[in-house]
Amino acid sequence: MTLNVGVIGVGMIGQDHIRRLTHVLSGVRVAAVTDVDLDRARTVAADLPGASVHATGEDLIADPGVDAVVVTSWGPTHEGYVLAGIAAGKQVFCEKPLATTEDACSRIVDAEVATGRRLVSVGFMRRYDDQYRAMKAVVTGGEIGVALVMHAAHRNPSVPDFFTSDMIINDSTVHDIDVARWMFDDEIAAVTVLTPRVSSKAREGFNDPLLVLLEMESGVIVDVEASVNAGFGYDIRGEVVCEDGTVELSESAGAIVKGAGRFGGRVPADWRERFVRAFDVEFQTWIDAVAAGGTAGPSAWDGYAATVACETGLRALASGVREPVTMRERPDLYKES
Ligand SMILES: NC(=O)c1ccc[n+]([C@@H]2O[C@H](COP(=O)([O-])OP(=O)(O)OC[C@H]3O[C@@H](n4cnc5c(N)ncnc54)[C@H](O)[C@@H]3O)[C@@H](O)[C@H]2O)c1
Repeated sequence: MTLNVGVIGVGMIGQDHIRRLTHVLSGVRVAAVTDVDLDRARTVAADLPGASVHATGEDLIADPGVDAVVVTSWGPTHEGYVLAGIAAGKQVFCEKPLATTEDACSRIVDAEVATGRRLVSVGFMRRYDDQYRAMKAVVTGGEIGVALVMHAAHRNPSVPDFFTSDMIINDSTVHDIDVARWMFDDEIAAVTVLTPRVSSKAREGFNDPLLVLLEMESGVIVDVEASVNAGFGYDIRGEVVCEDGTVELSESAGAIVKGAGRFGGRVPADWRERFVRAFDVEFQTWIDAVAAGGTAGPSAWDGYAATVACETGLRALASGVREPVTMRERPDLYKES
């Protein structure tokens, strides 16, 4: 059986996902696309045999030829499309963020809970990265004891002009926030944001880098150094310190070269290069689960929790003090996710 997917928003990541859905993965085809920029949608569809172009996301969701929906439009538009997908009873894969505010995420959670089944998956692809999975297996396996601290770094070489200072937290650090919750099967209890010396490369009004401290309910503390002007490449780091040892992400999967008293390897250019395999595994897992009548991957609850932690982080950045995270009660639907 081939799963017919409709894609809403065919910008950078929408086109990258269409490439993998069309040329890399199996059991799926892109049957429909749409974008507020209809010319862009038509151009993209021209390379997709048999794909229709819809004037709006709502039309695409209502199309009986679309079995499942991929939302890759701008974050503030996600809520409406995810709610429409739920109302149509279709499985929805939504790129992060699930929605940009706690209230919007909560409305999605309520709508999904009302259907009694999971229809929403959120694109936190690091959960599918080989290195993060190997790290989680060590942490969960307990072979080096109980986890105490995690050190993480999220360094972007640069960011486009539309990137605002808030996005260091709710666009970049959001991935580390999801990793922390997933790595330790735990919720975030409080967030503190420290502002080190500002990089001379930072744009006007940006605190860059940031040091984001996540206190987990278990007492584990995760420190995330987040920077969007690292210049030299896309550098993602992680180390978990346990009672009897440490586990860290290995360097990039590329070759290590030794010569003339030095050694080194390649630093990925961007998130597409670093996480290309994670995106492939994430989507194939979702496609297989949807074809079998279910879903897979981070839930609407995970999307809600990440957005709440980001909002708390932005509050902590503004206040300069530790801010507790306050979340609604987790509905039963998500108790096993
Ligand atoms: N998982 C990741 O690591 C990752 C990486 C990049 C982007 N993203 C997320 O993917 C989403 C898109 O990011 P992008 O970098 O591709 O942005 P982009 O600006 O390149 O593309 C977004 C597209 O959505 C279209 N669009 C905007 N509003 C729309 C609407 N109401 N209906 C239909 N189409 C609409 C735009 O015209 C554009 O073509 C964002 O939520 C972003 O956070 C996730």
